Amino acid sequence: MQVETLRWREGRLELIDQRRLPLEFEYVACTDAAQVARAIRDMVVRGAPAIGCSAAYGVALEARRHAGAARAQFDVALDQAFRVLAQSRPTAVNLFWALERMRQCHARTRGGPVQAAAEALLQLAQQIHSDDIEINRAIGRHGAPLIAEGARVMTHCNAGALATAGHGTALGVIRSARDAGKHISVIANETRPYLQGARLTAWEMVQESIPVTLVTDNMAGHLMQQGRVDVIVVGADRVAANGDTANKIGTYTLAVLAERHRIPFYVAAPLSTIDMAIADGSAIPIEERDPAEVTGFRGVRWAAEGVNVANPAFDVTPAALITGLITESGVVGQPDAGKIRALFER
Ligand code: MRU
Repeated sequence: MQVETLRWREGRLELIDQRRLPLEFEYVACTDAAQVARAIRDMVVRGAPAIGCSAAYGVALEARRHAGAARAQFDVALDQAFRVLAQSRPTAVNLFWALERMRQCHARTRGGPVQAAAEALLQLAQQIHSDDIEINRAIGRHGAPLIAEGARVMTHCNAGALATAGHGTALGVIRSARDAGKHISVIANETRPYLQGARLTAWEMVQESIPVTLVTDNMAGHLMQQGRVDVIVVGADRVAANGDTANKIGTYTLAVLAERHRIPFYVAAPLSTIDMAIADGSAIPIEERDPAEVTGFRGVRWAAEGVNVANPAFDVTPAALITGLITESGVVGQPDAGKIRALFER
């Protein structure tokens, strides 16, 4: 069984409401770009590739809403849609990658009728959506041989079907290894503060009967020290041109621990997550989220009123700590600027 994280139904974008998983499974519908932007900001949909696909549909929705308008009005509405979507979340570069593709499509249609522009934009959003599933399957094919029979695979956050259009990146590698007949098990880090590991990764694995053990983030080092982790595979929100990788907060800690314990540490990500405009990880924008995510959860507060809170949602793992970058074009061992440039020429 594979979940459909996002789907286009009767002129609307439907998203699984990931805030409610795993206790409730329901779709919410978006009919304009502002609603999609809000869904991204509020984490109804999250995970770099899923954010990119949703943003593309956000533009398409806005285009359809104004498909009967005059050209000037249509263009103003689309410019506003691009603006509001680009402001939804800062770190995952797939958002900006998808918006740029949509912007180029919009620019190509400027001389023609508005109706045709709206159709072309929807077609491109659907293409980005279906391509993402294929890309994740290719990532899985390249990554599966790196996972040994019987391996205990640690992962962080959720880089699964729920974070993409389907199959997943890090969990895609795990799924593909399982599909290749390997008897593997997963250690899912809880992923404080938003619990994507506990709520989403554990749920995905249970759905598919892939053995999964849930641990809190601070247990990871202990498990590595005890020899209970064979390999680590995580996703990425933005990879700089030299291979430095931003991913969910806590990933850097795991990479340092993995080096200490000589455990292979892989990043699985599509080429659309690589930002060649950023030379190294120091320039990657790191989202700072609401302090309420740290002081409590779902309305229950456990920290004292008045306490100062830091809530960076991502951290940067230096390329030197990464054993390999698994992409749809193949695996880059010990990524660096030259190897990453070459990846785009394969
Ligand atoms: O804040 P989130 O849940 O959007 O963060 C998600 C991650 O950090 C994922 O690991 C990353 O986006 C890769 S998803 C294939």
